[in-house]
Amino acid sequence: MEGRLATAVLGQVHEHHASLPSSNDRALAWAREGAPHGALVTADEQTAGRGRLGRRWASPAGEGLYASVVLRPAEYLGGGTGWSPRWSALGLAVGLGLRTGLERWVPEVRLKWPNDLLVHRRKLAGVLCETRWQGSTADVVVGFGINVAQREFPEELRATSLAIELSPGTCPERSEVLEAALMGLEGVLGRFFAGGFPAIRGAYEAHSAVVGQALTIGGIAAEGVGFDDDGALRVRPLGGGASRRVESEDVWLREPAEG
Ligand code: BTN
Repeated sequence: MEGRLATAVLGQVHEHHASLPSSNDRALAWAREGAPHGALVTADEQTAGRGRLGRRWASPAGEGLYASVVLRPAEYLGGGTGWSPRWSALGLAVGLGLRTGLERWVPEVRLKWPNDLLVHRRKLAGVLCETRWQGSTADVVVGFGINVAQREFPEELRATSLAIELSPGTCPERSEVLEAALMGLEGVLGRFFAGGFPAIRGAYEAHSAVVGQALTIGGIAAEGVGFDDDGALRVRPLGGGASRRVESEDVWLREPAEG
């Protein structure tokens, strides 16, 4: 997985591990020790891979891509403490960047708010962004897991992989997927840190799995209608009534038969 990457910054400093509890934990520790902007941690396997809301991220050896990048947003500002509230939608920007990287293999990949990448309604990748404060300076780590070579998943995970989606013999190596993902991420993050979510909203909405779709949120049926400037999802109840913001609740895509 090591080797020269075509990126300008992301991954130019790179630690690869055969096994880690979690690449996010290692990247957060490295950030605390002063890792530079763009420092990358990858692992062949994770023994305690984490997802959003403390969920487990299955990380079998050699099958998925498990990667975490240290970001120093001050680099995009030319100084300061390095955090602005208009960057609260960082996880959405990361999803869009990964999508850009992956579209050469799976052009149909869609963004399910807030942190999933789906192909044919099945999860291909997930994003976990974490911030720790050292005084007034933010250490930001963006972690992502991409299912690459797995041939099967427990049905209840509703997951897929590049190997499942692509014709036999055409699945890329994890190192190729890593480079493509980081290239996509680098382009999108530049736009996002300059202009916040509004700078990428058009591209994000164009690939959204939830806009215009029937959803279930907190047991209520609703339709996704768009995203606010801070990346919150806006939905309208299917039964009628005003639209409302969704900030952190789980969102489910309704099956076509559910309407
Ligand atoms: C989710 O879908 O809830 C997010 C999954 C994020 C998994 C990645 S794998 C690399 C990094 N290290 C972790 O422990 N988690 C993230």
